[in-house]
Amino acid sequence: MKKNLLGLFSTLIVVSILLTACGSAMATPVSIATVVAAPPTGAPVFTGLGCAPSCQYSDLVVGFLQTGSEGGWRAANTASFKETAKQLGLKLKFYDSQNDFAKQIAGFQRFIQDPEVNVIVLAALETTGWEEVLQQAKDNGKIVIIEDRRIDAPEDLYATYIGSDFAEEGRKSAMELCKLLEGMSGKNVWELVGNIGSSAAKDRGQGFREKMADCGIEITKSQTANWSATESKQVTQAWLTETKDVQAIFAQNDEMSFGAIEALKEAGLVPGVDVKILSVDATGSAFQAMLEGSLNVTVECNPLLAPQVYEAALKAANGEDLPSWVPSEEGVFYADDPELQEIIKGRTY
Ligand code: AHR
Repeated sequence: MKKNLLGLFSTLIVVSILLTACGSAMATPVSIATVVAAPPTGAPVFTGLGCAPSCQYSDLVVGFLQTGSEGGWRAANTASFKETAKQLGLKLKFYDSQNDFAKQIAGFQRFIQDPEVNVIVLAALETTGWEEVLQQAKDNGKIVIIEDRRIDAPEDLYATYIGSDFAEEGRKSAMELCKLLEGMSGKNVWELVGNIGSSAAKDRGQGFREKMADCGIEITKSQTANWSATESKQVTQAWLTETKDVQAIFAQNDEMSFGAIEALKEAGLVPGVDVKILSVDATGSAFQAMLEGSLNVTVECNPLLAPQVYEAALKAANGEDLPSWVPSEEGVFYADDPELQEIIKGRTY
């Protein structure tokens, strides 16, 4: 009996050694990346693609996981990736996550399994839930670049993050509304929030709250409208049936300000005058709304990130170190700017 057990035990050990060897052979990347022996922490160090140190853009096959197509900003961001890929001569595989987190994770896994893809670019719908797929991507020798939306995950799991300082956009928004509401006794502000799990919504909200007390702003209503004009119109309509005591609206993106503007007009209020409106993005449509006088201020969030992202991907492919975050440079635009007509001409989105 004892002998039989010993025999069974040794067979199990042999089978498990064979399975482990077989499993790691299957997981080994197909000559797209160089992964050197494990350092003391046990994490493999990524040193670039097989073509390093002379990789060209034509060596890159980028799998891009876009959030969806929720408005003008997103359309410009998508166009930036498609057009720049053509200009640089790299192959782009585009995946539309349709604003569905489960779909985005499935798309990520598809790119990990795709032997052609050597770079994965992620515009994350949620800040959390990424560690497992990021680890899998790393184990499979894929370069991961986070664009637009930051995530909460260990920095050694991705090459770099390229995107806006959303908290700063929130702080700028509060400071601009302080100027617009100067001298008013009531400073009741309604906040139209983006997709609540996203870094853009979380950080803009947090930055706004950091600065609003400086001039006595109070957020009297706050609700998600998921970056959508249609939803924000409905939310604002519902609020207006409860009260009209509102001095300003902080829309976390331009699209949501458009919905709020319509709702205010239909309720007989003059947007931009009776109720000040500030939004984030600075798309062409927001400039149009400022020219019409219904939007007061738009805080810029730059969607044209592809040139920086692809450049970073090439550097990572060649084994270069990258900073953990490359913030975009962004401004603020005002409805009463005499140069508005000129600025709008240079706006491509
Ligand atoms: O992450 C950037 C935000 O996402 C933009 O402000 C919004 O319009 C978009 O959908």
